[in-house]
Amino acid sequence: SAASKSAFPIPANVFAETVTEVKHYTDRLFKFRITRPASFRFRSGEFVMIGLPNAERPVFRAYSVASPSWDEEVEFYSIKVPDGPLTEHLQKIKVGDTILMRKKPTGTLVNDALIPGKRVYMFSTGTGIAPFASLIRDPETYEKFDQVILTHTCREIDELKYGEELVEICNNDPLVGEFAKGRLIHYTSVTREDFPRMGRITDLMESGKLFEDLGVPPINPDVDRAMICGSMAMLNDTKDMLEKFNLVEGSNARPASFVVERAFVD
Ligand code: A2P
Repeated sequence: SAASKSAFPIPANVFAETVTEVKHYTDRLFKFRITRPASFRFRSGEFVMIGLPNAERPVFRAYSVASPSWDEEVEFYSIKVPDGPLTEHLQKIKVGDTILMRKKPTGTLVNDALIPGKRVYMFSTGTGIAPFASLIRDPETYEKFDQVILTHTCREIDELKYGEELVEICNNDPLVGEFAKGRLIHYTSVTREDFPRMGRITDLMESGKLFEDLGVPPINPDVDRAMICGSMAMLNDTKDMLEKFNLVEGSNARPASFVVERAFVD
């Protein structure tokens, strides 16, 4: 297709990689995988800038790497924004097309930014699940924590599909499956359609239903750690909630008991 033949030079600070898989989940959501350059190193949970080779000055957007750091390919999970400068083109990519990826990854949703604990909560809404798709497939996460609780809340049931498939892939993976079995818990809820569990994660936390459903005590700063990824409003409300449980926000420079990153949408 058109995107696979770049008429423009590839800048020195970007990799030009080949699309190996594209899967559409809903009319708004898709995942794609690309070849991984041998020199591309990242920590599970980080993000990188990606673009398409269709202009002299290509548009780049931040994308969380959804694959773990040991994977031989690189996976991304994307929304399709109507008239989005990148996603209007990106949603049309096919196997064999070229994707540009800036060489330097970064981000705060990394194991290194959390102090050790017993349990880690990964709170996500919508495409905010992407960095956790990387982290739940990284053995390091299970070396650091006994229990990994991935929460995913979406407006509609179909939007949970990527996460469900992900957890199944993770549990059946020859490398990570043994770590994840019985220790990775996938907790889903839906807010705008009938579903067995309904409600925002903040409300489920506030009412105590989350902890009842999981059979665990409420969040305790001595043992519990958390990572948050979603919209700005979700981030702020979840952060407030965690601070009420006396968790403290950390960073790469100052690891603490929770970390936050906006789900990139544009
Ligand atoms: P709701 O349907 O009640 O708005 P979005 O697509 O807007 O990012 O929403 C994804 C999911 O996150 C939806 O289920 C939405 O619930 C939920 N959500 C939106 N805002 C917040 C918030 N401030 N705190 C917690 N959850 C939120």
